[in-house]
Amino acid sequence: MNDWLKSDRNARTERATLRATARVAALADLHARPRAGAASMVRLTDLQGRADLLVIAGDITETGLMSELDSAVTALAEVQAPIVAVLGNHDLRTLRRTAFRRALQQAGVVVLDGDAIVVETAQGVRIGVAGVCGCGGGFWPAVGPERFPSRAMKALALRARRETARLDAALAGLHGDADVTVALTHFSPTASTLGREPLAKYWMLGNAELGSVIDRHPVDLAVHGHAHLGSPRGQTERGVPVRNVALPVVGGPVIFELPAVRRSDAADQEPALSGVWT
Ligand SMILES: [Fe+2]
Ligand SMILES: [Fe+2]
Repeated sequence: MNDWLKSDRNARTERATLRATARVAALADLHARPRAGAASMVRLTDLQGRADLLVIAGDITETGLMSELDSAVTALAEVQAPIVAVLGNHDLRTLRRTAFRRALQQAGVVVLDGDAIVVETAQGVRIGVAGVCGCGGGFWPAVGPERFPSRAMKALALRARRETARLDAALAGLHGDADVTVALTHFSPTASTLGREPLAKYWMLGNAELGSVIDRHPVDLAVHGHAHLGSPRGQTERGVPVRNVALPVVGGPVIFELPAVRRSDAADQEPALSGVWT
């Protein structure tokens, strides 16, 4: 290993050990509607001074209309912290994808779509977020798309494989560059957060390959939405904490306090879960 790389890693580990925590607020499924108004949609003012970053796991709008996005942006303007988001299936109904993304960017929201970003907190903790919308596909044992009989299911399986490959690449791009790593998806990477969702809908709610990808990387927390009848807490096959932050599930933004140490040093640590509105 190059000396400069070694010393950089040592410095990063030392810095991460010395710093306390990264405070990551998370929310999904705002489903903003026109003229709903910030106050009636969700209150975000209470995050002030309590979060280093807000991540939004998709379905910001109900049908992808720009008027709906205006309502969401009004609410998000209350947030002082950096905001990182992925789009959800409802956002992707927009007929103006470029304008939709540009409006979010102009509001200061970083939209991830198969890529990653590192946000440094005021205390110097580097929070890496890798994001992708994801898609359905289900949670059956991994088999190739060629095994599925119907053309529609085969297409879905291929899409799931493509989306997970994009998450894989985004997470790989973060290696060694973040003290804390968050995987952000709209669709679920696990069935363990699907709660009261009917079994027949599981194939629409996420897929196991997203979880397999997360397990291949040093991820500290996986955040998703989309499962409105789901449950807030779950984990991947290999124990990475997964949190469903869909608004109907959690009632408002949830703040996770993540120890800024490498996952190998923090195997027994779970993120502290605190609900702003609980
Ligand atoms: Fe939703
Ligand atoms: Fe959704």
